Amino acid sequence: MIEKEVSIGARRERRFYVTTLFLFLATLFIVLILGIFINNSVKSRRLYEELYFPETNTYICPSPSSSYNPRIITNTTNQSRHLVSSTQDLRHSMSDQELLSQALEVSHQIDEFSHNISKNKPKVAFLFLTRGKLPLAPFWEIFFKGNEGFFSIYLHTSPDFIYEPSKSSVFYKRRVPSKEVQWGKPSMIDAERRLLANALLDISNERFILLSETCIPLFNFPTIYNYLINSKKSYLSCFDDPRSTGRGRYNKRMAPTITLADWRKGSQWFEVHRKLATAMIADESYYPIFRNHCMPPCYMDEHYFPTLVTKIDPQLTSNRPITWTDWSAGGPHPRRFVNKDVSEGLLNYIRYGSNCTYNGAVTSLCFLFARKFHPSTLQPLLELAPTVL
Ligand SMILES: *[C@@H]1O[C@H](CO)[C@@H](O)[C@H](O)[C@H]1NC(C)=O
Ligand SMILES: *[C@@H]1O[C@H](CO)[C@@H](O)[C@H](O)[C@H]1NC(C)=O
Ligand SMILES: *[C@@H]1O[C@H](CO)[C@@H](O)[C@H](O)[C@H]1NC(C)=O
Ligand SMILES: *[C@@H]1O[C@H](CO)[C@@H](O)[C@H](O)[C@H]1NC(C)=O
Repeated sequence: MIEKEVSIGARRERRFYVTTLFLFLATLFIVLILGIFINNSVKSRRLYEELYFPETNTYICPSPSSSYNPRIITNTTNQSRHLVSSTQDLRHSMSDQELLSQALEVSHQIDEFSHNISKNKPKVAFLFLTRGKLPLAPFWEIFFKGNEGFFSIYLHTSPDFIYEPSKSSVFYKRRVPSKEVQWGKPSMIDAERRLLANALLDISNERFILLSETCIPLFNFPTIYNYLINSKKSYLSCFDDPRSTGRGRYNKRMAPTITLADWRKGSQWFEVHRKLATAMIADESYYPIFRNHCMPPCYMDEHYFPTLVTKIDPQLTSNRPITWTDWSAGGPHPRRFVNKDVSEGLLNYIRYGSNCTYNGAVTSLCFLFARKFHPSTLQPLLELAPTVL
């Protein structure tokens, strides 16, 4: 009798433990699934799509010096003002506001004293908006090699990214003071304006191209340089998308400053001349409206500059992008190319596969850059470099 009760008790106890264990595991499983689901839906647009964190040997950069050359020197003796084109050191301790007004002042001075300024040969500014290191940097190095004096490079990275390439690299000390960027948020526009402003400080920069770490050049440097320097227009796409992913993101509270008729969408990856770059950092009318009323699913980087340019002067842009992206598969993400995709055939298809106008004439040279190339494409790209670059 007692033995039987003991054994029933033990069985009950066992059943209790098994049930508890089962409930515990079930809860764990549900939490896990929920976690994965939430994580995926957060990432579902294109968060982190451009981001790679290759293993790097890092070392701590010295902290920014405050002895920054302000670029505009006023001579008190003869009251002349000089623009100083100094590209030696990009470190400075200016706030964003100081930086923007300094850059605007430089552009203003260029307009006002254009006949007094002895400009060097014009340069193309390559603005890299990245999180960390450029996985395709060796390909870019080949592209830039031998063309010193015709380009400037600016890198905006995550502020805690402390890697510095070797002295022989074109990317050596080209990092501008950077802040945290959240993809699709106003901080992204701030970073783009920060890049533009830093580049505008150098009076010899005439063209400004925004690139990500997944971008590659499609032609050799002289071809790209001549195309951009001689182009009458900027390359910033702005179109009226009637769908929910276009007009659907317009917020009525933006009126009357921005109406639905003004509302545009376009690729984030622009190329602009100095005049438009200056207007993009000068804007104080539309930026606060976007900041307050364009929140996910409205993405400021897809609407702010296209709408701004349409408001300022649509004639400033050729209204087509210069960076090729494969959207042919549909969906919110463009195609990402990996190692096995890269061939001379693919690159030639991208290079010559479309028609467009350039300075009023029809041409098949429509795209100078392409994205999105995974770090694994570096090897085949390097093999193709002698043919392509
Ligand atoms: C300022 O201008 C005067 C008169 O032209 C000149 O003698 C002097 O060297 C200039 N100072 C600087 C710092 O350039
Ligand atoms: C003022 O001084 C600077 C520096 O010496 C010189 O380059 C500039 O030509 C002077 N300007 C005038 C109007 O004399
Ligand atoms: C600019 O050049 C003009 C003549 O070409 C001269 O009259 C004027 O004083 C110069 N301005 C400055 C600020 O040096
Ligand atoms: C581009 O134009 C040329 C000449 O008119 C034509 O042969 C070619 O098919 C066009 N290519 C595309 C992609 O439309």
